[in-house]
Amino acid sequence: MKFFLDTANVEEIRNAHRWGILDGVTTNPTLIAREGADYRTVVREIATITSGPISVETTSDRAEEMITQGRGYATWAPNVVVKVPATPDGITAGATLAREGLRVNVTLIFSVNQALLAAKIGAYFASPFLGRLDDIGQDGMQVVREAVQIYRTYGFTTQVLASSLRHPLHVTQAALAGAHIATMPFKVASALFTHPLTAQGQERFLSDWRQLQVALEQRKTKV
Ligand code: E4P
Repeated sequence: MKFFLDTANVEEIRNAHRWGILDGVTTNPTLIAREGADYRTVVREIATITSGPISVETTSDRAEEMITQGRGYATWAPNVVVKVPATPDGITAGATLAREGLRVNVTLIFSVNQALLAAKIGAYFASPFLGRLDDIGQDGMQVVREAVQIYRTYGFTTQVLASSLRHPLHVTQAALAGAHIATMPFKVASALFTHPLTAQGQERFLSDWRQLQVALEQRKTKV
């Protein structure tokens, strides 16, 4: 299972890369707006950190414009994946871009049928938004489970990119559901390390080790 970071914050991406767990990055207009920076500049900087896929989202609701944007994004870095929404125009644009050999991520997926549409056009990734479904009282993980099952049945090569993850349990559940990738905010990635017994155990090991060094030093000085 691959881990992507769902952020446009370069420092967060650097940190996750340093941890050795970063397989790629997903961005969207909201995340870019949060950074208040130019999309192209940010993506090119991210590409200096990771060679994994970087999803870059189109910002139009018209197929023709999405196609033009997607072709442009693909020139920013070799690892760019073009994001299109699961709308008729988004799917139309995605189909054209995929036919041209570009990697496409169909985003804003909230149903299994939308995930099927993504597979039909040969998308590289399909991104079901679990957290947003959970937010309205629906079982977001069910979409992941069923998409994975259907893709297997038909041999679709589209990868299920579990998105809109809100907490570490979503990562576990996405893995159990067979998602190929989980994209998560930095806060969730950091939380994957956290366990009170790990912190406590490490503190005890280090303290025992320090005490042993002191005892050995004292023994040496006595001899
Ligand atoms: C990823 O590609 C999505 O844009 C992202 O996971 C959306 O997450 P959100 O629901 O927290 O905005």
